[in-house]
Amino acid sequence: MTRPTVFSQITGTGSYLPGAPVSNDDLVARGIDSNDSWIVERTGIRYRHLAEESVVTSDLALQASLRALAAAGRAAEDVDLIILATSTPDMVFPSSAALLQQKLGIRNGAAAFDVQAVCSGFAYGLAIADKFIRSGSHRCALVVGAEVFSRILDWNDRATCVLFGDGAGAVVLEASAEPGILASALHADGSYSGILSVPGQISRGEVVGSPFLQMDGQAVFKFAVKILAEVAQEVLHEAAMNVAQVDWMIPHQANIRILQATARKLGLPLEKVIVTVERHGNTSAASIPLALDEAVRDGRIKRGDVVLFEGVGGGFTWGAALLKY
Ligand code: UT7
Repeated sequence: MTRPTVFSQITGTGSYLPGAPVSNDDLVARGIDSNDSWIVERTGIRYRHLAEESVVTSDLALQASLRALAAAGRAAEDVDLIILATSTPDMVFPSSAALLQQKLGIRNGAAAFDVQAVCSGFAYGLAIADKFIRSGSHRCALVVGAEVFSRILDWNDRATCVLFGDGAGAVVLEASAEPGILASALHADGSYSGILSVPGQISRGEVVGSPFLQMDGQAVFKFAVKILAEVAQEVLHEAAMNVAQVDWMIPHQANIRILQATARKLGLPLEKVIVTVERHGNTSAASIPLALDEAVRDGRIKRGDVVLFEGVGGGFTWGAALLKY
């Protein structure tokens, strides 16, 4: 007997932002050599959230996951796969996914692992979970993007420290007879590793190399615009759909100018792009699920809408997913 075709579908979303919003003027008041108009003009960012010292990635992930589980009507014990995308894990090991599993009180042996694809991490995690579910090996996945990026910023480097923020977003992805995820694509090119990195590593009890984020902003900008449009076309092609059929695009929220340029290149009206970068800054792997959760909860994204996710980040990595919400 042939096995019925299984798809994966998002059944619940959740997100969490730590503390009160921190404005550009707040950063200037803290001694950053910048100003509100430069940051807004170059990036579109007005606010970001910064976690307290004692808060770790799995704490943020826990709050977002509890909200996603509640939205899906699922108990934590129903989850049989946890994928947590982060570049700011709680510790070298165990994975933040395993620590999240413990905080959720899951004792059913669910598989748990981190994905390290920087700002593309959620696109990677979602595509991996989709493949696990379609294979029949798992039925209920928690896919999370969570970051405390403020910990890896050099607060003396004004060109980078104003860009990022902390937060978490999560989805519950379940086996379904109906799609769900229609197409996904993942890519990387390690030859671009030098334009965005945190090169430090722990060795013999010391951090060797810089523990802070380093970036060639203009090189990242050009690369991001080029490949975001390409990977969007790739998933549309795979699903035999066209851009006019997309109801919403949720790009990684790095910079409003990258979002606008990508939408223009694709021929997608800006009204169809979900934008949170103004209030969240760049939350790396958390940015797509944070934006998704906002747009679902405020009623913009409705069941049946076609949504295009796309991420790009250090590595370089990039990826996209097209789905029917
Ligand atoms: O997830 C991917 C993460 N990364 C990104 O998305 C970043 C992509 N790149 C960008 O968004 C932009 O390249 C930036 C926003 C980072 C920078 O914008 P830019 O237009 O490429 O500026 P720039 O680096 O060429 O710097 C222009 C000027 C420089 O001054 P001079 O040399 O012209 O006098 C900088 O020193 O702006 C100065 N500058 C600042 N001024 C005030 C750099 N950072 C700041 C700042 N406030 N925070």
